[in-house]
Amino acid sequence: MGSPASGSDGSRLQVTVPDVAAAKRASGRPPLVMVTAYDACQARIADRAGVDLILVGDSVGMVCLGLEDTLGVTLEDMVHHVRAVARARPRALLVADMPWMSYHTSPEEAVANAAQLVRAGARAVKLEGGAKRLPAVEAILSAEIPVMGHLGLTPQSVHALGGFRVQAKELDQARRLAEDASALAAAGCFALVLEGVPDVVAGRVTEELAIPTIGIGAGQWCDGQVMVFHDLLGLEDKAAPKFVRRYAQLGAAATEAIARFAADVRQGRYPSDAESYHARDEVAASLIGLGGPPAPGEADTPGRHAGRR
Ligand code: KIV
Repeated sequence: MGSPASGSDGSRLQVTVPDVAAAKRASGRPPLVMVTAYDACQARIADRAGVDLILVGDSVGMVCLGLEDTLGVTLEDMVHHVRAVARARPRALLVADMPWMSYHTSPEEAVANAAQLVRAGARAVKLEGGAKRLPAVEAILSAEIPVMGHLGLTPQSVHALGGFRVQAKELDQARRLAEDASALAAAGCFALVLEGVPDVVAGRVTEELAIPTIGIGAGQWCDGQVMVFHDLLGLEDKAAPKFVRRYAQLGAAATEAIARFAADVRQGRYPSDAESYHARDEVAASLIGLGGPPAPGEADTPGRHAGRR
């Protein structure tokens, strides 16, 4: 997409599911850009930067809620964060993750849960897994809810996979992943996230599919890339996987800013007179005796500043 189309009033048009579905690099389109966001402020920041898709990922559990993995994230958590992101009215396509156990028990439950995310403001949902998840994918699609697939290192399978490990390193695993990818595309998924797989595997799957792939730790041959908001901006200084490129160090900058605020408060430098509200002279005078500026070493009181608004 890259340079978004504009409406007749010059406003940028919403990115739609068909726009994304058509964004194959092989057809000359620039790579898709997706970032995660979990609240309205983050969504506005990402949208102003011109991303194509905003994903309210279940990574919210790890980056915002302090969880060790995504398994503790509930549908209620996702609905809460999707609502917040949707309030930013992003131009980017808003995709919501279906959390663990919201699409595993029955296709009917999967549809009802996907519908809750759409009612919260999502325009599409993402779910993890291949052939095993086809009944859920088909049911959600038949309710007219667009579905994005997610294969490779699927974090909701962390225990089954034995940890957050790169997947499909062996030929048979790579073939199975390619089959799963084809099955999801054939079922009608509009795009596919490939996470934590060798670049050559992602490249081959990308070549074979008519829908775009969006990679994270999947090399440079995907049709797009996704990154977690907090990773990209360096909001935390924890060790990160090698595919994370930090474009800022906002965590360190934020800590430094808050430390300066604390020092200013403790040393009486904040708030200044200009940063304070003032009552009219007569109101202030009747509250506290009028006085000039405090003498050096004298405690500052509200009355000292009466009259300045
Ligand atoms: O939850 C998430 O943030 C994701 C992306 C890493 C693709 O699924």
